[in-house]
Amino acid sequence: MKPILYAIRALPGGRLDRLARLFDLRGGGAEPRPREALVDEARDAEVLVPTYIDRVDEPLLAALPKLRHVASYGVGTNHLDLEACRSRNLLVTNTPDVLTDATADHAMALLLAAARRVVDGDRVVRAGGWKAVDPAFMLGTEVTGKTLGIVGFGRIGQAVARRAQGFGMRVLYASPREVDFPGARRLSLDALLAESDFVSLHTPLVPGTENLLSRERIARLRPGAVVVNTARGAVVDDDALADALEAGRIAAAGLDVFRDEPRVPARYLRLENVVLTPHLGSGTHETRAAMAEMVAAEVERVAEGKPPRHRVP
Ligand code: DGY
Repeated sequence: MKPILYAIRALPGGRLDRLARLFDLRGGGAEPRPREALVDEARDAEVLVPTYIDRVDEPLLAALPKLRHVASYGVGTNHLDLEACRSRNLLVTNTPDVLTDATADHAMALLLAAARRVVDGDRVVRAGGWKAVDPAFMLGTEVTGKTLGIVGFGRIGQAVARRAQGFGMRVLYASPREVDFPGARRLSLDALLAESDFVSLHTPLVPGTENLLSRERIARLRPGAVVVNTARGAVVDDDALADALEAGRIAAAGLDVFRDEPRVPARYLRLENVVLTPHLGSGTHETRAAMAEMVAAEVERVAEGKPPRHRVP
């Protein structure tokens, strides 16, 4: 009898299918099963494949006594109770690197769209609101020559910095460690917020970064600043950000991630100076397929007794 691999939802391109030679493949529906049914169906699984949005917590782990490997689809690990995984001696793997460029592209897309009112402009044109040629109509914020503050300067933050430099932006970053990156200057978070025209968030969600962009810190942003978040929703105090946007104290925001996805705070939905996307940071055909391929390769390696390439400590 083959061991059971349970995928909480389908991954793009049927990339897990080739694992059928090694595993009895279960789950993998378009939507995850309700918790009770999931526990029932995954009870004997040795490998569990959640995506970056599927909570793997202590009660779920306790219900899967044969589990050995949690092979997560995505780089973020905030949906996993890593402490509980450690205490059960579970191997946890993720899919870093392959989504760096796509996520950095998306951060730039949001930055540009928010600064240059791309979505807002599209709405106005479609609604027939473009009536006359007026040089003062729908003006945005210039990007070239402005300062971008990058919060979290790992792989994705640095990929954003390279792109921003191509747009003639000055780059600042806040990070627990100094990074050797030509042309980028490290500052404390508070100093960065006070000096940046644009702020892009690239920190993982860990206990120390929840509400990192707090009300107090949002108050430090420059008037007319633009905030971009492709990291995790819970890094931002949503009410405080919505207050600043509503009051016009900051110019705009581009948000791809939310605290309780797929729910988006109603206040953002009412604001025209916010560009919203449904967690599309890694959302290209190429990247989502590469992530699935990485999960399959990792599960295969481990099943064949080889060491994993991307073990989450
Ligand atoms: C991840 O992998 O954690 C990303 O958020 C997916 O886009």
